[in-house]
Amino acid sequence: MTTLIKGARLYGEDPVDVVLKDGVITSVGEHLSVPTAEVIDADGLIALPGLVDLHTHLREPGREDTETVETGSRAAALGGFTAVHAMANTDPVADTAGVVEQVWRLGQEAGLVDVIPVGAVTVGLAGERLAELGAMADSAARVRVFSDDGRCVADPALMRRALEYVKALDGVVAQHAEEPRLTVGAQMNEGDRSARLGLGGWPAAAEESIIARDVLLAGHVGARLHVCHVSTAGSVEILRWARSRGVQVTAEVTPHHLLLTDECVEGYDPVFKVNPPLRTDEDVHALRAALAEGVIDAVATDHAPHAVEDKECEWAMARPGMLGLEQALSVVVQTMVEPGLLDWRGVADRMSVRPAAIGRLPGHGRPLSPGEPANLVLLDPAARSVVDPAALASRSRNSPYAGRELPGRVVHTFLRGAQTVTDGKAVK
Ligand code: DOR
Ligand code: ZN
Repeated sequence: MTTLIKGARLYGEDPVDVVLKDGVITSVGEHLSVPTAEVIDADGLIALPGLVDLHTHLREPGREDTETVETGSRAAALGGFTAVHAMANTDPVADTAGVVEQVWRLGQEAGLVDVIPVGAVTVGLAGERLAELGAMADSAARVRVFSDDGRCVADPALMRRALEYVKALDGVVAQHAEEPRLTVGAQMNEGDRSARLGLGGWPAAAEESIIARDVLLAGHVGARLHVCHVSTAGSVEILRWARSRGVQVTAEVTPHHLLLTDECVEGYDPVFKVNPPLRTDEDVHALRAALAEGVIDAVATDHAPHAVEDKECEWAMARPGMLGLEQALSVVVQTMVEPGLLDWRGVADRMSVRPAAIGRLPGHGRPLSPGEPANLVLLDPAARSVVDPAALASRSRNSPYAGRELPGRVVHTFLRGAQTVTDGKAVK
């Protein structure tokens, strides 16, 4: 099958034509014509490499009522993604070769994005014994990212051991940085507002103390560390210091931490309850600047679907987490591109190139050049729309962007040359 894309602005540059054949980009240039090709008019559309998410909760196995590999894959494709890492906090936990292979196979069957399972660091996420990291790495799922996300690997000796193992596997530990002893009863960012609202505080130091500890451990072991959902200005300072010392540490920020603050908590609507919590204006500013600078490497969604009964309830009872896949690119356009903090090449770097490199994913995050796999997204930067949770492909409805107008619309997504999204609609 051959596709001819007419007049796409690659990385926001001048319009060119692109030919996709047999899953590969075969030519890029002006006035191309291929008689038998399907033609896509990309007038006004920007082309980026297919987006890669390092942090997606797909809820299968175990909570298929809130998301499945298939529904989450559809949400991802609609968001412009061609690969997502599926977090391990499923039921059963993805802590064996059997479970990661099952998730990987379900992703293949859905066929909308490459679903890359994350393996748990510890058995059952219990933080006591290391899981079978080597068997997961050697399995068909080719696991390279290991995380107990949802929980912190709190024991420093176990964390050190995990770093030693992943080093031998060319893998990385993705840490959910939260010192559990400091967040007992935590409900929101700790500060004046938590005191006034009467909700338990989640102090910045609970995140920062773990990051500080872990960059020291990663430096000592000589292993790769990735920090999930960085949320505070202080964390950015620690990361900058660690990188200046040559520690192999990478980090991600979520779309919601780039856009929203703890002011959202004022109405006690649990759709804004998330872990780590929404922080302050100063934190948001520091996170945007760090992403622009590259001290934070990647945007990762932390897409966290939850059932209505777990979100439309009293704040303290609600589960933390929010949807992110379908609006991630729009939020980055609003918070980073429109204010001039990141150009389109920068978006490609932070949402595709670097996440693919961190996850050691061959075939993703590649340049839009002849000979490369045809994984790409075409978006309309000028389109604006109001988010309607009822219209989302996700099986859950807990979008923090409900009713918000956001810029940018994903029009087409291609996975190895096949359209997974056409005219803003998933093909299956
Ligand atoms: O808000 C969150 N939700 N943070 C996490 O770390 C886990 C996630 C979930 O699984 O719902
Ligand atoms: Zn987490």
